[in-house]
Amino acid sequence: MLKKISSFAEYQQVYKESTENPEKFWDEIAQSFLWKKPYNKVLEWNFTEPNIKWFLGGKLNITENIFERNLPKFAQKTAIIFEPNDNKEASYSLTYQQLFEKVCQFSNTLTNLGIQKGDCVAIYMPMIPEAIIAMLACARIGAVHSVVFGGFSAQSLADRINDAGAKLLITADGVFRGAKSVPLKEIADKALEKCPTIQKNIVFQRTKEPIAMQKDRDIWWHKAILDVENTHNSVEMDAEDMLFILYTSGSTGKPKGVVHTTAGYMIYTQYSFENVFQYDPNSNDIYFCTADVGWITGHSYITYAPLLAGATIVVYEGIPTFPNAGRFWEIIDKYAVTHFYTAPTAIRALQALGLEPVLPHKLDTLKVLGSVGEPINVEAWEWYFENIGKKRCPIVDTWWQTETGGILISPLAGITPLKPAFATLPFPGVMPILVDNEGKELLGNGVEGNLCIKFPFPSMLRTTFGDHERCKQTYFSTYPNLYFTGDGAKRDEDGYYRILGRVDDVINVSGHRLGTAEIENAINENALVVESAVVGYPHDIKGQGIYAYIILKSEAKNMSETNIKADILKTVQEVIGAIAKPDKILLVNGLPKTRSGKIMRRILRKIAEGEHNIANFGDITTLLNPEIVEEILKSSKV
Ligand code: WT7
Repeated sequence: MLKKISSFAEYQQVYKESTENPEKFWDEIAQSFLWKKPYNKVLEWNFTEPNIKWFLGGKLNITENIFERNLPKFAQKTAIIFEPNDNKEASYSLTYQQLFEKVCQFSNTLTNLGIQKGDCVAIYMPMIPEAIIAMLACARIGAVHSVVFGGFSAQSLADRINDAGAKLLITADGVFRGAKSVPLKEIADKALEKCPTIQKNIVFQRTKEPIAMQKDRDIWWHKAILDVENTHNSVEMDAEDMLFILYTSGSTGKPKGVVHTTAGYMIYTQYSFENVFQYDPNSNDIYFCTADVGWITGHSYITYAPLLAGATIVVYEGIPTFPNAGRFWEIIDKYAVTHFYTAPTAIRALQALGLEPVLPHKLDTLKVLGSVGEPINVEAWEWYFENIGKKRCPIVDTWWQTETGGILISPLAGITPLKPAFATLPFPGVMPILVDNEGKELLGNGVEGNLCIKFPFPSMLRTTFGDHERCKQTYFSTYPNLYFTGDGAKRDEDGYYRILGRVDDVINVSGHRLGTAEIENAINENALVVESAVVGYPHDIKGQGIYAYIILKSEAKNMSETNIKADILKTVQEVIGAIAKPDKILLVNGLPKTRSGKIMRRILRKIAEGEHNIANFGDITTLLNPEIVEEILKSSKV
């Protein structure tokens, strides 16, 4: 266990020290880890190139810190409790020793297949322990994993595999999702038609539905590990060697591969996990995070940090509402879960179904609740606090991003005084600042602006894979010498932060991050479409919904609107995945554009929000085609 903060006064003191002398602060925390060779410098950085390096010269392996470091104490402790999609299927658990042996065996398997340090391995898996085993085996041999969420389409999977030049794919025959199953292997096959760098494909048998195996390329997981040794010496990694790539959406172009490296990520995630959640590995604490390994939460706060901390985690394969809306609460009671971490969209969806599914469950083991992925509205916060935490459990509203690797602004459970819908205060070592649109710092409290970070913290992204310039442009150029988060935030009279949401063209749909440009590109691939514009709008359950304005080709004129819309949704599902399907489509004859040809999204956002009064649209006289605004507004009301 790392140094635990145990009172608010101590937090204030630690925070002060961490910002006055960050190198000393992180140096001390780093001492609790196993190093194969010590580092000779804590930090080297500038935000102009950017160049960010932590623990320079240090050599280590992150899985040695999960296993060899923890095993003397935790060998027989449960590491993973697996809860299958179907609650009638038997659950099982793995101790740290058992998990270690499985990871070693799979590490050897990967090596046998020719995977070496530095190679990229794509993982497209259900939420099952093997997904975690695959990730850890990559880390153990120094291969870089790129996990692709199982809900993404063949095209999205292919794009990610090709961008990283992955050599191997690890997938499953299928994935159970509620009452249905999704044929992962079939989707992967389609993707692999376009992936020349993939040499082998390991397939885990999960749904047991019949699938075609391609000779010379596809290998069953259970066959590949047969007779493979379950001991393995971890590969020596440099502190700054790449640990993984995770693709995420931005305001322009295709998703970018966020790069995280080894030592800083390891140290920051474990330290933040233990302190934010106040998780105690020496007690009966059971941690259940409902995220998927396809997202950063599943990387940092399911796979890496909890296992580094020696925690017992619940890995749940299914969805919140199967076989009924009480499933999360059933799981909490079944395993005596103490720490529960989920997304506001899930809370709102369950809240909408009323208390009936909640009441049969005791929920009396819970100590800490967490929220992540999007702003949590006050109503959802209060419902969660009262009905799930029974007013007894603090809610940690954790703000962070794929790029930050770990939680940056959050209460420490039971320590930081809470305010509903506020992520509250920065974690030790994190130095947020708010700036106006010109980049001028907004000093003092009671201000609102663009949220930036002015000093590096160990788990921040180092680059975007294969395109460092893009990293610089996206995050470090908007405001010189600052990391720009893309979020707006307010700092209230008490210095508490409230995250207001994205200020760029990124939308957050059910906690899934999507670029409006990315969705537009997908829509435009439909043969009937001339042009489209996508904006987010407030949605009761999803947080934001997707609103698409679409101009059709003339040949579409004699087709039924229902068929056209269905066809467009199908295209989006094929290009990105079901999560990107627009909630509303409005067929229009034109889009409001400036004289330089830029779409005026501000106006489209207003219409999508349901604003009917043109006087509230701001100045529209500078538009090339002001008359179109009235026309769109009229058809939006029908
Ligand atoms: C964006 C990052 C962090 C893991 C999951 C999402 C939004 C995230 C909060 C929160 C308000 C939040 C931000 C951020 N966001 N957590 N507690 N309160 N907004 O990671 O997919 O990289 O998305 O999610 O807008 O920029 P991501």
